[in-house]
Amino acid sequence: MSTEFVCRICGGRVHEFFDFGRQPLSDAFVVPGADSREEFFFRLATGICEKCTMVQLTEEVPRGRMFHEDYPYHSSGSSFMRAHFEEFAGRLLATELTADDPFVVEMGCNDGVMLGTLAGAGVRHLGVEPSGGVADVAAARGIRVRKSFFEESTAREILSEDGPADVIYAANTLCHIPYMDSILAGVRVLLAPDGVFVFEDPYLGDIIERTSFDQIYDEHFFFFTARSVRAMAALHGLELVDVERLAVHGGEVRYTLAREGARTPSGAVSELLAEEDRRKVSELATLEEFGQRVNKIRTDLVALLNRLHGEGRTVVGYGATAKSATVNNFCGIGPGLIPFVSDSTPAKQGRLTPGAHIPVRDPKAFADPYPDYALLFAWNHADEIMAKEREFSAAGGRWILYVPDVHIV
Ligand code: SAM
Ligand code: TMP
Ligand code: ZN
Repeated sequence: MSTEFVCRICGGRVHEFFDFGRQPLSDAFVVPGADSREEFFFRLATGICEKCTMVQLTEEVPRGRMFHEDYPYHSSGSSFMRAHFEEFAGRLLATELTADDPFVVEMGCNDGVMLGTLAGAGVRHLGVEPSGGVADVAAARGIRVRKSFFEESTAREILSEDGPADVIYAANTLCHIPYMDSILAGVRVLLAPDGVFVFEDPYLGDIIERTSFDQIYDEHFFFFTARSVRAMAALHGLELVDVERLAVHGGEVRYTLAREGARTPSGAVSELLAEEDRRKVSELATLEEFGQRVNKIRTDLVALLNRLHGEGRTVVGYGATAKSATVNNFCGIGPGLIPFVSDSTPAKQGRLTPGAHIPVRDPKAFADPYPDYALLFAWNHADEIMAKEREFSAAGGRWILYVPDVHIV
């Protein structure tokens, strides 16, 4: 097995530091009875580039296998995330979008969770969304959507039809895209001279700190830091001018890029760069130590589930997240230990989780009757879910979490 790969950002050498083994597509929920030989698997492993420090997967899944008509993730499913995007849209309206007739482009607008607010305010906008099902939901709520992958050619077409964009935005989308050359070339083509490209994605610093290894799955190809984003931007004549830590999805950073020299970088950029140096976030030794903690979580979680099973306790999964594919398939957790996973997404209900084949059921099943324990796969929505499921706790139910370590609350 080779442990050296070529960096998808700069062509430098990538050193592999963790191997999760054979993994399915994290959002490919299986129809019961389907031919299991048709399930797609790949080797999920992570490495770091010795030149630009970008942490990335070493194997790439063809994009059409992940993002298609039936892509099941609907962003508006979380009220917390709806509020998060409304707040940011409001902020854009007050800052970047005050000129005459501004224009916003969003990559990966999904069901329109963010553009809904801007469309409501009458802002000229375009969502670029390859997953047809969610794009239709956005269109049905009055959002202008183009059903395609954003890349350089898309950017050229948008420019000729709509003119330059004052804001290009992407949430939980840029880190999904291995072909970054084409994306950033497209941003350069489409962005107005003083425009900004803003994107928010899971932050490697938080993943290391919380040992949130389940952020690593097929769709998350890159794991950004201020350092690696700065290097990536510089290769395309762009500059990192602002960063903001976000509490959503287990810890993210919102990065703002502008054309080189167009804006003065904020103090937050140098502060985060200094913090990353202090914490040695981009050092191979730090990532290898993270890997040791991941292995311990697997050992502890499997031991706990086996013990509870042996004691005749019931454990149900909560939230059939994309993240949980890594947990179940890496730890070897199947329907023998967890009879079903409760999830509010209709498109996932009635199906089986990828690889592990645990049935996904409507949240009504969760209370009928309550299990003894719930394994919280959607730990990034813990506050929202625990508030919603107060009766479960009142009835003596306990939550099992595995991030930052295996514990029961
Ligand atoms: N922005 C939403 C959010 O934060 O909840 C959706 C995030 S979802 C995890 C990622 C989205 O990116 C999917 O809807 C997918 O179809 C879309 N996507 C993937 N590749 C893309 C590309 N090249 N251009 C535009 N969208 C893309
Ligand atoms: P995410 O971690 O990628 O945002 O996915 C969250 C998953 O958890 C998604 O499938 C919806 C599900 N979910 C529930 O079942 N109940 C809830 O209250 C929330 C917030 C999410
Ligand atoms: Zn590199």
